[in-house]
Amino acid sequence: MDPETTRAYFDERADHYENAEWHVRYAKRLVELADMAPGWHVLDAATGTGLAARAAATVVGPTGRVIGADISPGMLTQAVRHAPATVSYIQSDVTDLNEFDAEFDAVICASGMLYLPVDQALREWRRVLKPGGLVGFSTMREGEPSTARIFRACAADLGLSLTDPMAALGTEDRSEAALTRADFTPTHTIADTLTLPASDPSHAWRVLSTSPHYPELQTLSPTDLITLETHFKTTLPSTASITTQVIYAYGRKQE
Ligand SMILES: C[S@@+](CC[C@H](N)C(=O)[O-])C[C@H]1O[C@@H](n2cnc3c(N)ncnc32)[C@H](O)[C@@H]1O
Repeated sequence: MDPETTRAYFDERADHYENAEWHVRYAKRLVELADMAPGWHVLDAATGTGLAARAAATVVGPTGRVIGADISPGMLTQAVRHAPATVSYIQSDVTDLNEFDAEFDAVICASGMLYLPVDQALREWRRVLKPGGLVGFSTMREGEPSTARIFRACAADLGLSLTDPMAALGTEDRSEAALTRADFTPTHTIADTLTLPASDPSHAWRVLSTSPHYPELQTLSPTDLITLETHFKTTLPSTASITTQVIYAYGRKQE
C-alpha cells in the first residue's frame, strides 16, 4: 500500500475519527489484554489520534513513557491535543524506525496492521524491543466488518474484484504465523467481538470508496462509480448495530 495515499486518507478523516466511539473501545481492549506494567516504555505504532497510547499511559503510570508514531500529520494534530504528560508523538513510518534502538518494553498496534506490510513492520518492531519485550496488535476477522464485505460484493456484481484487507491476519492461525515469521513467540491470541453502530450509508460509502485498499475503483468510469454507489447504499441493511469479530494477538521477543 502506498504510504502517501494512506497519509492523505487519514489526514482527511482525522477531525472526525474519534466521533466513532467504537474506535476508542477497540484500542482500549488491545491495551487491557496486553498485560503491561507500571514503568514500561511503550511504542504505539500507527497511533492515529493516540487512543491506544492514552490507554497505555494509564497502565504504565507516571514512571512509564509512551511514544505514539504515525505518518499522518492530521491524525497526530488530534493526538497532541489530548496528550497526557507521559505521552509524546512523532511523525514516522512505523516500518522504518531508525530513531530507535532496542529500547521498548512493548510495541502495540491498534487497528493499524491492515495498512502496513505486516512482515516488515513486525520485524522492525522486534528490532526496537528489548529482549523479552511484548508485541501486540488487533485485527478484524477475515470478511469483517460486514459493511466492507457488502461493499466488495457490490463491486463484484459490477465485475470488479476487490481484496479483503483483513485476509492477511484475519484468523488466529494467520496472526500467530505472522508473529512466528518475525521471530516472536506467540503468547496469547484472543478472539472477541466489537459492537459497531449501524453504518450511515453516505458515511460508509465515503470511507470505503476513498480507502487506500481499493485503488481498483479508479478504473471505473464515473457512470459505473455512481452505479456502484447506488447499489451499495440500497444493499446495506438497516440494522441498529453490527457485531464484528476481532482478534487480539500478542507475542514476545526471546530473552
Ligand atoms: C485505523 S487507524 C488506527 C489508529 C489508532 N491506532 C486507533 O486505534 O484508533 C490506522 C493508522 O495507521 C496509520 N498508518 C498507516 N500506515 C502507516 C505507516 N506506514 N507508518 C505509520 N503510520 C501508519 C494511519 O495514518 C492511521 O492513523
